[in-house]
Amino acid sequence: MEFINKEGQKVPSVTFPTRKGDEWVNVTTDELFAGKTVVVFSLPGAFTPTCSSTHLPRYNELYSVFQEHGVDDILCVSVNDTFVMNAWKADQEAENITFIPDGNAEFTRGMGMAVAKDDLGFGERSWRYSMLVKDGVVEKMFIEPNEPGDPFKVSDADTMLGHIAPNHKLQESITVFSKPGCPFCAKAKQLLIDNKLQFEEIVLGQDATTVSLRAVSGRATVPQVFIGGKHIGGSDELEAYFA
Ligand code: BEZ
Repeated sequence: MEFINKEGQKVPSVTFPTRKGDEWVNVTTDELFAGKTVVVFSLPGAFTPTCSSTHLPRYNELYSVFQEHGVDDILCVSVNDTFVMNAWKADQEAENITFIPDGNAEFTRGMGMAVAKDDLGFGERSWRYSMLVKDGVVEKMFIEPNEPGDPFKVSDADTMLGHIAPNHKLQESITVFSKPGCPFCAKAKQLLIDNKLQFEEIVLGQDATTVSLRAVSGRATVPQVFIGGKHIGGSDELEAYFA
């Protein structure tokens, strides 16, 4: 199978029946792309391991960075029906991504990216690719190499961001272990907010236990802050880190 690069061409014109609440709503490619700068990534299936653990979450995480660099929307396309795509979005808490159910594979076929995954019982699906689309015209495409299996080398969010904003320096990942009602946790989080840093919060008793906190930090008190894989410590230590 040869995948044709569609840079310079218009995206296929397709209407996607979608389920919003209890209603059917038709979403058209014209609404999705006209007058906008859009990043699309397409993958073989909702709820599949690589798509769920890596491909989708990183696009969701970097959405605000893409926005800073002029991207209006990020679309995730898969040859799945709208009920499956909606359930996957809810499961992934991927509020920044617009899920496009290309259940008939019309868009995927139009992009020349349809592949037979009959060996897995999947039928026709999308090859993994990403693209930057401006006003409905494909400006850049990253197509995974035609190798056996399911290569995931170039259609990731970081590669796309590197194309759109080659000089952008990504913030290191920050995690705060906290507990509800803990004043020092609030102080640590405010310090990060004041420094315009994004962070993920792991709330003990909800997302993890003290056992996990002790395992990763050697401590059982909150907050515990990690920056770029390094254990910083509590709010006083975070203050010292910024000083
Ligand atoms: C995965 O995302 O890991 C995957 C995709 C398609 C088939 C099997 C696994």
